[in-house]
Amino acid sequence: MLTQRIRRLLLPLALIVPLGAAAETDPDSGLVIAEGWETVKSTCTACHSGALVTQNAGTRNRWEYLIRWMQDTQGLWPLPPQTENTILDYLAEHYGPKEGARRPPLPPDMLPKNPYKKAADS
Ligand code: HEC
Repeated sequence: MLTQRIRRLLLPLALIVPLGAAAETDPDSGLVIAEGWETVKSTCTACHSGALVTQNAGTRNRWEYLIRWMQDTQGLWPLPPQTENTILDYLAEHYGPKEGARRPPLPPDMLPKNPYKKAADS
């Protein structure tokens, strides 16, 4: 019957569409559109492209470390705790650690001493 044929055609579509719709992104910044994204866009694309944000991934701690680093060295202004929380929640949720990706490089103070380094280099 016709309705049965239509159902048979629609079922696979119903399975495919939710997957495709999972990550709607803002064409401007590339950020995933989800709770808090506008705060992230207005704060985190002021100095550099959103791509610098979206191509990175990490835990909440990692993102907080990056924000502190930008505040200490790159002129990022102090963020009100509420704003920072919104940003960290968003980043940890949508740009969390990539599975199977290489770990980030160790910070210099965690590296072993380089025995080949000459005194003049340091
Ligand atoms: C005051 C300017 C400024 C603002 C605002 C800013 N950043 Fe940055 N950010 C920088 C600069 C400068 C760099 C270094 C760019 C480079 O290395 O080319 C950087 C680099 C980065 C990197 C790359 C770090 C790495 O390890 O290579 C990430 C990720 C990042 N920013 C995320 C953010 C996020 C998230 C926000 C919002 C909370 C933000 N930025 C807001 C200035 C800013």
